[in-house]
Amino acid sequence: METSHERVITEKFDAVTLIKINRPQSLNALDPLTLQQLGAAITAMEADPQTKVAIITGAGSKAFVAGGDIGVMQPLDPLGARRIAVDVQQLLNRIEYGSTVFIAAINGYALGGGCELALACDIRIAADNAQLGQPEVNLGIIPGWGATQRLPRLVGSSMAKQLMLTGERINAAQAAQIGLVNEVVTAAELMGRAHELAQSIAAKPKIALQLIKEAVNNGLEMDMNRAFAYEADLFGLCFATADQKEGMRAFLEKRQPNWRDE
Ligand code: HXC
Repeated sequence: METSHERVITEKFDAVTLIKINRPQSLNALDPLTLQQLGAAITAMEADPQTKVAIITGAGSKAFVAGGDIGVMQPLDPLGARRIAVDVQQLLNRIEYGSTVFIAAINGYALGGGCELALACDIRIAADNAQLGQPEVNLGIIPGWGATQRLPRLVGSSMAKQLMLTGERINAAQAAQIGLVNEVVTAAELMGRAHELAQSIAAKPKIALQLIKEAVNNGLEMDMNRAFAYEADLFGLCFATADQKEGMRAFLEKRQPNWRDE
């Protein structure tokens, strides 16, 4: 079933929800209405107990998301600019720290806030025509939706600084080389590959997926000793689930497990 929120379209494929930013005439630039609808789409998806994986992509063949809407930002005063930074940081944190696994299917330009949207996702795959970058410096600003923090954690501080200080765009192959995207496929293959990856993850037990995200995301912010203790705690928590019992029993009985997501 396809639900159109106008600027954001969601479509459900069993345990996978496709979220498409739908403002192609502006290269899917994120204005307040689009951001509001993206938030609403995520809220609706989180309320659906069946969804385990989300794919985010952009409508049209040119852009994933070409950034925050520059026309909207241009007249902002400092407090208004701070507000839009904080509000969208919180929205993107719902993607990174929420229990759903997010895959960004980057189908063209992923610039500024568009690259930051992809950075908040768990996995990024790109079409070979994609162009990624943080061009904010060319507008006299810095990134404000997380790139100064997520990009160095992903690709290292030196490469992140180069991208942000030059504002230069890189292509999909270069992005894969520095670890900014996991995989590059042809534009024709992109959505098929995104769905294949999403379905293979959605076939896994939900609580283990959630705990892997939590262990990585929260562990990265801890010192190693605390992080190992945290990992051990989450590992122990798995043994409170029916799926741990089933997964191990199925292995020993030489059969496929029947996950209950509990
Ligand atoms: C508003 C945008 C836009 C954006 C594109 N458009 N990007 N509108 N905000 N970020 C609009 C154009 O104005 C144009 O509208 C239409 O989309 C098509 O774009 P063109 O420029 O005509 O296309 P093309 O020549 O192919 O160039 C593509 C492009 C270029 C290289 C991607 O559009 C571009 O440089 N866009 C800006 C990229 C950018 O700087 N992003 C970072 C923004 S700052 P019309 O009406 O003329 O047809 C940011 C900060 C977020 O994201 C954090 C805030 C806290």
